[in-house]
Amino acid sequence: MKIVVIQGPNLNMLGVREQQVYGSMKLEQIHAQMKDFGAKSGMEVEFFQSNLEGEIVDKIQECYGDASGIIINAAAYTHTSIAIRDAISAVNLPTIEVHISNIHRREEFRKQNMIAPVCTSSIVGFGPFGYHLAMVGMVQIMNEVKA
Ligand code: DQA
Repeated sequence: MKIVVIQGPNLNMLGVREQQVYGSMKLEQIHAQMKDFGAKSGMEVEFFQSNLEGEIVDKIQECYGDASGIIINAAAYTHTSIAIRDAISAVNLPTIEVHISNIHRREEFRKQNMIAPVCTSSIVGFGPFGYHLAMVGMVQIMNEVKA
């Protein structure tokens, strides 16, 4: 069973960017923990990061027929991208949206979320630990699919 983790713009800067908001963990560290947890849970985990909207759309499309679920932090595109939203709808896979920060208690423009309505669930405001919660949630969803 394969899960694809898709990371949007500026998430390659984790550990450097606004540590008071996003914490001090680097993306590689977060991914290493997810990979470990995935291995223990019988899930192969693939990772992808891009700063480009079209590349993220391409990656979501590639998941069709190839992956069992998607974990995505579309970062700033969350608030603007109809293209990413449509791609998630199109592939119709279990999809968990993660935000490291609590986007509901930040600037007004972060309250608009184009992605959430087409996702299975959203995890916000837990810091980098939110990715682990998403993995736990994905295992649960996969078990429900199998049952
Ligand atoms: C983010 C929140 C977005 O508003 C922001 O543009 C990001 C990261 C988060 O994980 O909290 O880049 O998605």
